[in-house]
Amino acid sequence: MADKKKIAVLMGGRSAEREVSLSTGKQILESLDQEKYAASALDVDDLPRLATAPKAERPDVVFIALHGPGGEDGTVQGFLEVLGIPYTGSGVLASALAMDKMRYKAMMGSENIILPIDIVFLKSDTSRRRRAAQEIERDLGFPVVIKPSRQGSSYGTTIVTDAEQVADALTLAFKYDDTAIVEQKIEGTEITVGVIGNKDLMALPIVEIVPPDASGLFDYTSKYSQDPEKAAREIVPANISDALTEEAKDIALRCHRLLGCRGMSRTDMFATEDGIITLETNTIPGMTPTSLLPKAAAAAGIPFPSFLDGLITLALEGRG
Ligand SMILES: Nc1ncnc2c1ncn2[C@@H]1O[C@H](COP(=O)(O)OP(=O)(O)O)[C@@H](O)[C@H]1O
Ligand SMILES: [Mg+2]
Repeated sequence: MADKKKIAVLMGGRSAEREVSLSTGKQILESLDQEKYAASALDVDDLPRLATAPKAERPDVVFIALHGPGGEDGTVQGFLEVLGIPYTGSGVLASALAMDKMRYKAMMGSENIILPIDIVFLKSDTSRRRRAAQEIERDLGFPVVIKPSRQGSSYGTTIVTDAEQVADALTLAFKYDDTAIVEQKIEGTEITVGVIGNKDLMALPIVEIVPPDASGLFDYTSKYSQDPEKAAREIVPANISDALTEEAKDIALRCHRLLGCRGMSRTDMFATEDGIITLETNTIPGMTPTSLLPKAAAAAGIPFPSFLDGLITLALEGRG
């Protein structure tokens, strides 16, 4: 049918989050309304072909189902901007800032959003790295969480309870990025708040995340496993006070606006005795069967196909 919109679902990629992307992409392909859209898969390796494809063969919208560096970080977004092809989600700057936790934290911290206290180590600064354990002990105290600045899905992230574990945790983080962030470990209820929209924003019901074991880390396995023994439990709406719920939604909306996000975002936080502490904002959250944003949308009465439909509409809004 001539009036069906052509949607290319962009998936795969070489980042550590390739598997998540393939699963997300497959879900999206299966769920897009076939009456409205002619959808096909587009592997990132085939993306350069769009530059030389005749205009008539170009997709009307690229649905970006990529995660991590090389997909969620603004590079693919920039390529599509140059070609003038609309795409789902945030643009170059918001994507890049959200991917880079160190710079994200600097920006949000200056806007009165409370984030965990941290110190940053660079891979190249080997002499300072040798003194890392003492510095952490002095400035933060244990336990801390050590993570790469530009990665997702908890890859390279370790909870460190004493000085002896610091060197290994830094080495692991440096496998993923040349910048490692060492943060005070936050105690509280882990929550995540989805926001959808470009200018007219809507905060979705808050999802509470209960890790499967005492480690307290919402790690890769607990994020994506469908095995109930290993998967994190998710409670919607989160079991936190009305005041904290309102504060968390307000922060998620502010993060979305401050970063300049489009379409969707999902901000990870802890609800603590001292209020909300923000960890990060994701511009392309997962959309696998166990993912958080689709669950939050469903809790707001938006089924998955309508949620996808909305993202495509938002991708075209204000871009022609
Ligand atoms: N400072 C912290 N205190 C407590 N838990 C943390 C902290 N930082 C990260 N975590 C845990 O690690 C998970 C992943 O960290 P996050 O900053 O969200 O990065 P990403 O999701 O991009 O890997 C969080 O969902 C949380 O369970
Ligand atoms: Mg996270």
